[in-house]
Amino acid sequence: MPKLALVLLLFTQCMAMPLLQSTFRESKEVGEWIQKLHYGKEKVTRLHFYVHDTLSGKNISAVEVARASITDTSPTLFGAVLFIFDDQLTEGPEGTSRLEGRAQGLYGSAGQQELGLLVAVNFVFTTGKFNASSLTILGRNAALNPPAEMPIVGGTGVFRLARGFVTAKRHFLNVTSGNGVLEYNVFAIHY
Ligand SMILES: *[C@@H]1O[C@H](CO)[C@@H](O)[C@H](O)[C@H]1NC(C)=O
Ligand SMILES: *[C@@H]1O[C@H](CO)[C@@H](O)[C@H](O)[C@H]1NC(C)=O
Ligand SMILES: *[C@@H]1O[C@H](CO)[C@@H](O)[C@H](O)[C@H]1NC(C)=O
Repeated sequence: MPKLALVLLLFTQCMAMPLLQSTFRESKEVGEWIQKLHYGKEKVTRLHFYVHDTLSGKNISAVEVARASITDTSPTLFGAVLFIFDDQLTEGPEGTSRLEGRAQGLYGSAGQQELGLLVAVNFVFTTGKFNASSLTILGRNAALNPPAEMPIVGGTGVFRLARGFVTAKRHFLNVTSGNGVLEYNVFAIHY
């Protein structure tokens, strides 16, 4: 049997029994949430935070995982210089600033004529009323033409059924190390 199939089989067998109970509990919560949705009014939430993208040094948070053969000769690094990142999301721009969550996702170079990054990111919050809730962004960041505007395509927890957009701008970049800090403004509509 292929390794992956075996792992999946083991996973489903281990998970099937214990999940049964919590699945019911969750359905009740979701059911109640959907009931309330009929009378629910949409809210607007605005957030502002910083994301620390660290390509080198002690705590690397973004790694290159793929690169096409033409990437090195392309002026826009076209051909998916694909990075996966798990960045700290903080209140202020300093590394020591209060941690509010993580920005996890990937970006790749998707423009042939000019630099245009395809960005897919989940903001996962870990404090306050947004703890354990998340927002998902999918969009284009023309890094040389800030600020970038990218759509919010959904969310979980407090942000279920979210829509809206974010604007992102480089706050700091060390061109030697590649380490940078991005500033985000979030405008989310949700229930
Ligand atoms: C690196 O990560 C470790 C473990 O999470 C943490 O204790 C340390 O403060 C971090 N260092 C920097 C420079 O961010
Ligand atoms: C966030 O939620 C998790 C469980 O989902 C809990 O373990 C943790 O203590 C919470 N953190 C804060 C700061 O509320
Ligand atoms: C930029 O990165 C280099 C190499 O890691 C480091 O020596 C330098 O101190 C950094 N500069 C700033 C302003 O952080």
